[in-house]
Amino acid sequence: MEPAPPILHVENLRTQFPTETGLVKAVDGASFSVSRGKTVCVVGESGCGKSVTGRSILQIVDRPGQVVGGRILWRPNDAHEPTDLAALDPRGDEIRRIRGNEIAMVFQEPMTSLSPVHTIGSQIVEAIRLHTDLDADAARARTIEVLEHVGLPRPADRFGAYTFQLSGGMRQRAMIAMALACDPRLLIADEPTTALDVTTQAQILRLLARLQAEMEMSVLFVTHDMGVVAQIADEVVVMYLGTVVETGPTEQIFAEPRHPYTRALLDAIPRVGQRRRGRRLATIRGSVPGPHSRPTGCPFHPRCDYARPGTCDTREPATVALGARRHVRCVLAEEEVAVG
Ligand SMILES: Nc1ncnc2c1ncn2[C@@H]1O[C@H](COP(=O)(O)OP(=O)(O)O)[C@@H](O)[C@H]1O
Ligand SMILES: [Mg+2]
Repeated sequence: MEPAPPILHVENLRTQFPTETGLVKAVDGASFSVSRGKTVCVVGESGCGKSVTGRSILQIVDRPGQVVGGRILWRPNDAHEPTDLAALDPRGDEIRRIRGNEIAMVFQEPMTSLSPVHTIGSQIVEAIRLHTDLDADAARARTIEVLEHVGLPRPADRFGAYTFQLSGGMRQRAMIAMALACDPRLLIADEPTTALDVTTQAQILRLLARLQAEMEMSVLFVTHDMGVVAQIADEVVVMYLGTVVETGPTEQIFAEPRHPYTRALLDAIPRVGQRRRGRRLATIRGSVPGPHSRPTGCPFHPRCDYARPGTCDTREPATVALGARRHVRCVLAEEEVAVG
């Protein structure tokens, strides 16, 4: 049987920001897909283009940045032809209908989505009424239902709460409730637990996993933390400087990482007890170059322990398919495949 087409297929996405100091190629030819009902984690250090990728899908890139190339094929329903989100006018009706309705997004900082001057309940009611034809009473009932669904205690009382009356974890639950109010088919979550303490982070990750399964929703989860990836991802997309360097099922990525950058990210996961024994956490040599000093050839080569002068610094590697859902963009993988 043919596998079902992915709900989201991003192909050769390019998103750029013209700035006074030059063009920033924030996403530079990224390709990956999200299967129906699965959680895909986009992982990489800060500045690698993860957030811009998420925002490109919804066409909410900060101006004057814009999607300049590639396709974002959105297929909420198997029976219909996909819509290319990259081709839609960012201010047009079609993307507005999709945004917050078919595809919702939550951010690291709840206050980017929630207003401090309106109650939690009234904001969720407004979001519901924007996208459905529920009347005020039905929207209110639905709001209390979603607040309960995300684990807010005494949801009917919390309906009238303001954000400043909630803890960080409760605010994050309220933002997730708002995102889920219209039953989206895809949730894009951009570092939603990064600002939280470890215990609250674990609770929110469990909540998202539960909601994803119950609602048969797909999740694109952006994080810099391989520890988080291990807990929630079905598949992994590793990004470095606007390109996808490796993709694959989570077990394979953890058991057999093929890109030196993926290996370095995995080596940097803190292990239980490591601190106590006084051992230092492995860190990746060097740092992510700024947007205006993009290396030639493979963008990772200046930090790579396996880089070969004359090859890796001069030529961009091709993306090699190692399996149906497994890709690596590295000269070493190219050679292995060629040798067979
Ligand atoms: N509004 C903007 N204007 C100019 N450059 C931007 C803007 N937003 C992001 N960038 C640049 O795009 C690149 C990718 O950023 P981002 O997607 O936020 O990275 P990540 O989420 O992986 O930390 C960075 O070099 C960043 O400086
Ligand atoms: Mg980011």
